[in-house]
Amino acid sequence: AKVTLSVIKADLGSIAGHHMPHPDQLAVATKILAEAKQKGLIIDFYVTHVGDDIQLIITHNKGPDHPDIHGLAWDAFKAATKVARELKLYAAGQDLLSEAFSGNVKGLGPGVAELEMEEREAEPVVTFHADKTEPGAFNLPLFRIFADPFNTAGLVIDPKMHDGFVFEVYDVFEGRSVLLKSPEEMYDILALIGTPGRYIVRRVYRKSDNLLAAVVSVERLNLIAGKYVGKDDPVAIVRAQHGLPAVGEILEAFSFPHLVAGWMRGSHNGPLMPVPMRYARVTRFDGPPRVIALGWNISNGRLIGPADLFDDVAFDETRRLAQNIAEYMRRHGPFMPHRLGPEEMEYTTLPAVLEKLKDRFVKSEEVKVVKKHSDMLSGS
Ligand code: F6R
Ligand code: MG
Ligand code: MG
Repeated sequence: AKVTLSVIKADLGSIAGHHMPHPDQLAVATKILAEAKQKGLIIDFYVTHVGDDIQLIITHNKGPDHPDIHGLAWDAFKAATKVARELKLYAAGQDLLSEAFSGNVKGLGPGVAELEMEEREAEPVVTFHADKTEPGAFNLPLFRIFADPFNTAGLVIDPKMHDGFVFEVYDVFEGRSVLLKSPEEMYDILALIGTPGRYIVRRVYRKSDNLLAAVVSVERLNLIAGKYVGKDDPVAIVRAQHGLPAVGEILEAFSFPHLVAGWMRGSHNGPLMPVPMRYARVTRFDGPPRVIALGWNISNGRLIGPADLFDDVAFDETRRLAQNIAEYMRRHGPFMPHRLGPEEMEYTTLPAVLEKLKDRFVKSEEVKVVKKHSDMLSGS
């Protein structure tokens, strides 16, 4: 039977700001998933967090978008919210935008990435979980993993990868996707995904056999809610090895801490810092944005792992560079391009501030002053 790996996440409240969940929230979510495993609804699961987002990693045979699986995640999130309310944690239940569950958590607040697979002889997979950023944050690394031969040696060396990959690019504003081939349409892909707030790499397929190699959560909460309700801290699933990028090629794409939107108040650009699980909590200026990488082998649906893949000195220099970039960006204070541009700020609380100033604008006296000056000149 096919196995589906579902990664479903939500921010349901945090200890002291938007920093990290309380262990009791993780415990109650774990209990609910353990019961589901006992009952045979799911095969296996793992619960963790990155920053203030609780991450449910679930394997099952029911396929993507299954109401039982989404319902289970919903129950776990409700329970974690209840704990948050009891403990008076900050922003309890933040990402549950609706009270009523109707079969699928999409559009209700949680982020979802699901990948259905025919398990290979060995099935290595990496799941990525980020906080204080948005789904488009994975655009650059996914492009490098699946399209850039300077990152991924296998694109050149491995005959199974040599044909390239197909990118599904999703337009979050229009809710439409386009399939583009790499390397042939590489420049078209970049023309879109260089705007990560709008065009998101949603799925990647191996061209030779259409094997689904990667999936990203694409929910954008502000577009769902129509206002700022926290960033859409994203998750991604990437399959590895044996005709797909090696785990090391996948991780290599994160060795450059590129700038992403998010960070403080979801309103700032900052470096995406790859960290081990123990540093998956956000502090400086509510950040900087960070990402963990969990390595798994899926064995008849069982989750073998996780390997905490960024827990390696080999990423120390990346983290150091990220700190330097964070310092550099912070010095801009409230100025762009540290602070996001006006289109992105539209979904924050800034418009409320600008609204107050609206009536205080008067037509500039400048024109009059200049005219007087020229009259003087011509009169003399
Ligand atoms: C960003 C984030 C935080 C909050 C900030 C203000 O995604 O979660 O940076 O935006 O802490 O939070 P409130 O408005 O809840 O005080
Ligand atoms: Mg939050
Ligand atoms: Mg978060």
